Amino acid sequence: MLSEKMLAELNEQINKEMYSAYLYMAMSAQSKDMGLNGFANWFMVQFHEEMYHAMKMYEYVQQQGGRVQLKAIAQPPLEFESVLDMFTKTLEHEQFVTKSINNLMEVAIAEKDHATQIFLQWYITEQVEEEDNDNEIINQLKMVEGHPHGIMMIDRELGQRAVNVPTDFSKGVEAAEGDE
Ligand code: FEO
Repeated sequence: MLSEKMLAELNEQINKEMYSAYLYMAMSAQSKDMGLNGFANWFMVQFHEEMYHAMKMYEYVQQQGGRVQLKAIAQPPLEFESVLDMFTKTLEHEQFVTKSINNLMEVAIAEKDHATQIFLQWYITEQVEEEDNDNEIINQLKMVEGHPHGIMMIDRELGQRAVNVPTDFSKGVEAAEGDE
């Protein structure tokens, strides 16, 4: 069972994960428009990751007998200066999400909600990986700044990224995870 405060915070986090999906979808759209299909692929894979993060929390709230409440999703930026700008903003956003997950953990500890603490550990580990991935790509982009050939090589590499999270939640997230 979730306290009222815990439930409200988890519902807020579902919204933040949905916004993350929306933000990466916007970056994917602009990458496509720039002819960078590998970047477009990378951000679309990231979109699926974020939908999974949102749906995993959605299902956890339901399993705990809570009511999911969906709020409006904010509009992401319409234009990014460059792919480096996209990844810089991606890292900043992920750092914001990390803080938000840490705050959720603080609430779970204060509420003596052990089940939610265990549930959130998965997100804490995931955030370390997300920030690490972004830092790696930012470093690569800084190395090739101003060299279109280098950007094309990174584009080819990012085009290799495949979706490895569940994407069909019609039978629930746990069922989808079982199919992995
Ligand atoms: Fe769901 Fe990228 O944090």
